[in-house]
Amino acid sequence: MTMLDDIEKILITEEQLQVRIRDLAAELNARYTDDDVPLLVCILKGAVMFLSDLVRHLDFRHEMDFMVVSSYGSGTRSSGIVRILLDLEANIEGRHVIIVEDIIDTGHTLNYILHNLETRHPASIRIATLLNKPSRREIFDIPVDFVGFEIPDEFVLGFGLDYAEQYRNLPFIGVLKPEVYTHVND
Ligand code: PRP
Repeated sequence: MTMLDDIEKILITEEQLQVRIRDLAAELNARYTDDDVPLLVCILKGAVMFLSDLVRHLDFRHEMDFMVVSSYGSGTRSSGIVRILLDLEANIEGRHVIIVEDIIDTGHTLNYILHNLETRHPASIRIATLLNKPSRREIFDIPVDFVGFEIPDEFVLGFGLDYAEQYRNLPFIGVLKPEVYTHVND
């Protein structure tokens, strides 16, 4: 048995991910120039794979920084109470910021981050998310500028997304077999 045996189905293949990420990079390349030197803000841990593949196709000067946030809620539900565990090193006042996320689900996490970063007076903020799950949205007025894939309301993992901190390394986006949920923490 390997961890691949835990996967019920692949929702987005490795190739589909890579093709779409190149397209997203092209959209960003059309929006930014070397003069902007935007700061890509990667929201750890889920967005780490997306960021690292995305930046390889960017052709404008940019910088990277990282935030760790935790969202409190019961089980899989996000409560809207978000805490910053690791803040940016960079001062973003007057800077062009691109938030890089793996998934927008209820929208509570990104809503908090967006408002928090806005208080620091950046020149602009845009949002790039690999996955968007609009059917679960509770915060509706989040301006999302770059979206990789709209996905149905399924619990997805791989390519940075975890179940119980595992499976982030999978090169595709998949869905677990239901019986695995009870085993992982055994
Ligand atoms: C995930 C994801 C988003 C957030 C989206 O992070 O990376 O930040 O949840 O959910 P929401 O739209 O309902 O707020 P998670 O807290 O699982 O942390 P991780 O990225 O470290 O896995």
